[in-house]
Amino acid sequence: MYLDPEDEEILAGEKGETRQKMMELLVALGKVFGAERLVGIKSAQVSGASYKTIGEYGLEWLSSLDARAVVQAVLNPIGMPRGRWREMGIDPEFAAKQQAVIAAYERLGVNLECTCTPYYLHKTSFGDHLAWSESSAVSYANSVVGARTNREGGPSALAAALIGKTPCYGLHLGKNRKPHVILEAKPDETDWSIAHYGALGYHAGKLVGNKIPYFRGITPDPEQLKALGAAMAATGAVALYHVDNVTPEAKKAGYNLAGLEVISVEPAEIERLFNEIPVDAVAVGCPHCSPRELIRIARLLKGKTVTRPLYVFAAQGVIDKNLKTVSGIERSGARVFADTCMVVSPVMERYPAIMVNSGKALAYVPDMCGAVARIGSIEECIAVATSISS
Ligand code: F3S
Repeated sequence: MYLDPEDEEILAGEKGETRQKMMELLVALGKVFGAERLVGIKSAQVSGASYKTIGEYGLEWLSSLDARAVVQAVLNPIGMPRGRWREMGIDPEFAAKQQAVIAAYERLGVNLECTCTPYYLHKTSFGDHLAWSESSAVSYANSVVGARTNREGGPSALAAALIGKTPCYGLHLGKNRKPHVILEAKPDETDWSIAHYGALGYHAGKLVGNKIPYFRGITPDPEQLKALGAAMAATGAVALYHVDNVTPEAKKAGYNLAGLEVISVEPAEIERLFNEIPVDAVAVGCPHCSPRELIRIARLLKGKTVTRPLYVFAAQGVIDKNLKTVSGIERSGARVFADTCMVVSPVMERYPAIMVNSGKALAYVPDMCGAVARIGSIEECIAVATSISS
């Protein structure tokens, strides 16, 4: 693999031990995947930030590193909202460990925005090379923005942040971004909600595994695309998808679809994922809410009071720019938390059944929170959160 003179110096240990180790990691990864060179990245998004998922071993490893990020780098959601962890009922012992993880990342020059939607905070453009690790963020960057990133592990995304480069293989190369299979989706007469696109992604991920699907028959908006990609990355390993006439590469590249397998998805296959089981709490914002989603939730909650816990998750930067909307939501008794989410926070483990409007959360809540999950549209979620019975 070609390394330029500066890369060679780093690899030789002339720029510090941590950067040397990080370069070794990138070079090893590049060799495994046949990369011919490294490519400069615009930003990194680093997973492995929740103490719930990395534990003591991860904290020790992070604390042993000594270097600074050289590109914009943000974190994935952590186990608690940094400013409001007491209010969320987080155990002080867990909070202390989580704060130590955050402090370790801060020393490494990583921006303490903890979100799976970094694209709402920092401009990400078509063709940008990135090293992002959270699967829904990777899917959104590749598919909706047309940027280029593999799905990095936490250590390789951190290494890329500290070096400013990543091995150029996989989805960084145009030849690997072509569709493998056509999914013919057939929404029924009524408009599909974000939750329906999440449910479609939940179903489609199981059908296509790690292939690149090309959807026909749907016209999702950006939030619906976000939900579709997040769920496909959860039940499958889809890091890139295309939607006919909607996503940028489907429009620009004009892919030749001749000879590709065509799979039909019937509306009934999506509808059957929706049910009406009673729930103990409602959680929305997986992936973290956009400003438009917050506004919608505030409108639906206007004049209402929640009768069971309603958690809304969004990036701190999005909350800060929508404070009036957020206070409108919280007037109902709902809580809008930054930095964390229903899957990585230990708090959600206290509820036996959780309602979500996300296909990804539908896939993850059972294992990660030990709870039964129910999916519904945002209107249904708010109705359940504010009703006397579920
Ligand atoms: Fe984001 Fe957590 Fe969902 S990281 S995509 S809100 S599981």
